[in-house]
Amino acid sequence: MKKFSLTIISLVCLLASAQLYAQTPVVNGFRLEKETQPQVYDRMIFGQFIEHFHRQIYGGIFEPGSALSDKDGFRTDVIEALRELKIPIVRWPGGCFVSSYHWLDGVGPNRQPSLDKAWGVADPNTFGTIEFVKWCRKIGAEPFICTNAGTGTAEEMSDWVEYCNLNIGKYAQLRKSHGVEEPLDVKYWSIGNENYGSWELGAKTVAEWGPLVRESAKLMKAADPHVKLFAAATAGEDWTLPLLQTAGKYLNYVSIHGYYGGTSSTYLESMMRTEQPAAGISSTIAILEKSKLRGKVKIAFDEWNLRGWYHPGFPGGGAENPLIAERDKNDINSTYTMADALFSACFLNTCLRNSNDVEIGGFSPIVNTRGALFVHPKGIVKRTTFHVLQLYANKLEKNVLPVQATSEDLVNGNNKTPVLDVAVTCNDAKTRFVLAVVNKHPDKAIEFAPDFANLGGATPRQVSATILSGASPDDYNDIGAENRVAPYEKVLKVEKGKVLLPPHSLVLIAVGK
Ligand code: AHR
Repeated sequence: MKKFSLTIISLVCLLASAQLYAQTPVVNGFRLEKETQPQVYDRMIFGQFIEHFHRQIYGGIFEPGSALSDKDGFRTDVIEALRELKIPIVRWPGGCFVSSYHWLDGVGPNRQPSLDKAWGVADPNTFGTIEFVKWCRKIGAEPFICTNAGTGTAEEMSDWVEYCNLNIGKYAQLRKSHGVEEPLDVKYWSIGNENYGSWELGAKTVAEWGPLVRESAKLMKAADPHVKLFAAATAGEDWTLPLLQTAGKYLNYVSIHGYYGGTSSTYLESMMRTEQPAAGISSTIAILEKSKLRGKVKIAFDEWNLRGWYHPGFPGGGAENPLIAERDKNDINSTYTMADALFSACFLNTCLRNSNDVEIGGFSPIVNTRGALFVHPKGIVKRTTFHVLQLYANKLEKNVLPVQATSEDLVNGNNKTPVLDVAVTCNDAKTRFVLAVVNKHPDKAIEFAPDFANLGGATPRQVSATILSGASPDDYNDIGAENRVAPYEKVLKVEKGKVLLPPHSLVLIAVGK
């Protein structure tokens, strides 16, 4: 009998505690480990990507003859805006374009158009290697060249390195004959772009890829042993483990890419995808672990964006194809809303939280298409994502701290995601902190409880915040409404240790001095 009553009592207690747990609201906040050491993250995660596609180069950054362009044909309003982003590195010229691009077509005094077989158009080749490096220096970014491992050869790649970086050899002499006496000092070089994909011209098999990367790397380092080398990789073991086993000792980075939605992805659908980049990073880390190269080879997420580019029937859809005109739909600014901004903030927070392994990013692309900056003949529009990139590049502290976040869920049908996304940065002395916090909820303000006890001790009465939000989750900027969505400063009251985050917002909160 006694045993029976004990069982009843324990069952009752179990039910009561389960009920209590179900009623206890989740605190939307985070905890810091008290003794965690600040870790410097690599600012290269704020890198970007530009391709010879639609109006990214021609009619984007490069518009000779425009009243808004300098003597080199570069749009000065674009340079001025991009300098606000402090972009550390830019990857070029592709992307699928590069897998049938021959760099010699884009150098020297006599540029002839060549057929861009990826995108079905003639490329005038008036923007080539020297123009790219010159433009990078003007915006203050490191040039990062992706080579043609589709129809190209290992030797063509190493000749390109010689052309850019050496003082000796026929390609170095060729550069000098083109009027550039001093080497261009291009440190970052990728072997190939997505050569695993059936859509890629000159795609490779797993068995072909490792040896090609190894031999290309040997030749490129034979030209310049100081180059940092990347290779096209995926978050899948089938492709990337053999690559690392065969060529990993020559690599500094593996390149992975991610696009998570399309033109029609709604705000809530986009928020449900904010954790997918972390999944790709985790599986790539697992492969690096398995190859015993984690720590020696880092991750370059050198093409990422919420929305894949719009180019129905391409790449490889054929020259002079009527579908090419469809690309103009990438220019519809109402497409790029707070969904794009908050997805991008969550992506950058994911890179910050994985800064041990993720060292380089490539927002894709910089201008036009899905870019942060829309460029038109009479000016520019800073899309919502531009402000996210600008805030991260200018407001965060230089170190990241690991956090344990707790958050209620945002639910959309059968899908859910934590409503908050948090990253914590700090100065070396851990006396000043900048929190990057996303409230994904489309219409609910969220009470957020920072771990003030571990952010310098006393709970302040108020905090300074920079907020990016909009009148609605679908708000956007456009010609004639360039500043409809823009960051604003606000002092947030701290009540019972919590601050109120506006709906669909990115909030940067400064704590300490
Ligand atoms: O949609 C653009 C393409 O996306 C890039 O050229 C390629 O690298 C990626 O597949």
